[in-house]
Amino acid sequence: MKVLVIGGGGREHAIVWKLAHSKRVDKIFCCPGNAGIAEHAECIDLPVNDFGALLDFVRYEWIDLTIVGPEEPLARGIADAFRKQGRNIFGPGADAARLEASKSFSKDFMRRYGIPTAEYKVFNSYVHAEDYVRLKGGPIVIKADGLAAGKGVVVAKTPEEAGTALRHMMKDRAFGDAGEKVVVEECLQGEEASFMAFTDGKTIVPLASSQDHKRVFDNDEGPNTGGMGAYSPAPVLTQELQDLTMEKVMKPFLNGIKAEQMDYRGVIYAGLMIKDGGLKVLEFNVRLGDPETQAVLPRLDTDFFEIALAVSEGRLSEMLVNWKPGASVAVVAASGGYPGKYDKGKPISGLEKAAKMDDVVVFHSGTAFEDSKTVTAGGRVLAVTALGPDIESARDQAYKAITGIKFDGMHYRKDIAAKALPHKSH
Ligand code: AMP
Ligand code: GLY
Repeated sequence: MKVLVIGGGGREHAIVWKLAHSKRVDKIFCCPGNAGIAEHAECIDLPVNDFGALLDFVRYEWIDLTIVGPEEPLARGIADAFRKQGRNIFGPGADAARLEASKSFSKDFMRRYGIPTAEYKVFNSYVHAEDYVRLKGGPIVIKADGLAAGKGVVVAKTPEEAGTALRHMMKDRAFGDAGEKVVVEECLQGEEASFMAFTDGKTIVPLASSQDHKRVFDNDEGPNTGGMGAYSPAPVLTQELQDLTMEKVMKPFLNGIKAEQMDYRGVIYAGLMIKDGGLKVLEFNVRLGDPETQAVLPRLDTDFFEIALAVSEGRLSEMLVNWKPGASVAVVAASGGYPGKYDKGKPISGLEKAAKMDDVVVFHSGTAFEDSKTVTAGGRVLAVTALGPDIESARDQAYKAITGIKFDGMHYRKDIAAKALPHKSH
């Protein structure tokens, strides 16, 4: 079988790496891919949002399945374009992708189907939004309605801070049209966790639980990033809470998808806030998380290709999805300056040695080849994932491996998964 993977980050490297282990997969293409992905897949240089060109390629190469990593092509309708031409694709259609691409759509959907979430109000007018924020006081959360590459959410401590965020989004148009509308939301307290599930629109099967680390510095300080590391399982998501998530979030989600006749074949990701044995949904994503995938997929025991094909063909109920016992920890190494400005083109050393260590995989995010050397090419450069019998040993091994990798300006958090260690109380 031939597979095309869309995307070029750490999540896509983990997908490609997993596909490379499948007995049924003979050839993998990735668009655009990166230096690490190139080890297992032929990287192709087509515009990711030119669905006509991608479809021509799929027809020409007789590709059996396309798997979409990032949200943008999904929001632009890649899955609809492929299915219209009778092509198998893993990812929801554009109408369902609004669950991620429009925060107000997502919140209204949660309200329609009784999915627990923070109280909120949607505003098109800056003046009305500011009045409301002053009335409510801080802390309060401001969200740009549209896609803003993970930067469109501000947790404001005071109404003044909230006002600044509103101006930034609505008046200065920092995120363009994405900030024309905003969601103003009650600020929730608790611990966050990521709950992802495979679904073909009829059956829902959860993935192993995980947690990511959004802030750039240790102890959750500094600005938000795309994610600085992840681990699986997340002890905060007890079996009880996972059952509760299935009951209160995933079942109503599925009812909503059916009632609104949305074509959902892929992964649904619920960002959860957990407190006192209860939970609320912070956001939906319509794809696998990054860097959660780099921690979770290595723990998958079942053939990922088989699952993805079954999902895309609406046969998920036939699949048994099994997970390896134990745990995994993924530590992200980022470029100096990230999540702000950073330089590219820094040579990376120590990759081969790290990859040879037991139970270690290095997933590339922003890397490229230059003069036959692997160099940095993005903010998040790579993630070192280690598997182990428990979080503690996986964590030790991941940190042992990452200390051997070097590039100019490299930084990484030293406390990934520290929260999940048994001697910590939370
Ligand atoms: P989102 O993209 O909606 O998940 O927001 C990004 C991050 O902002 C989340 O992972 C949380 O850390 C934080 N956040 C979002 N909504 C809220 C909320 N209602 N209360 C507290 N923190 C929030
Ligand atoms: N790790 C959060 C996300 O993928 O959106």
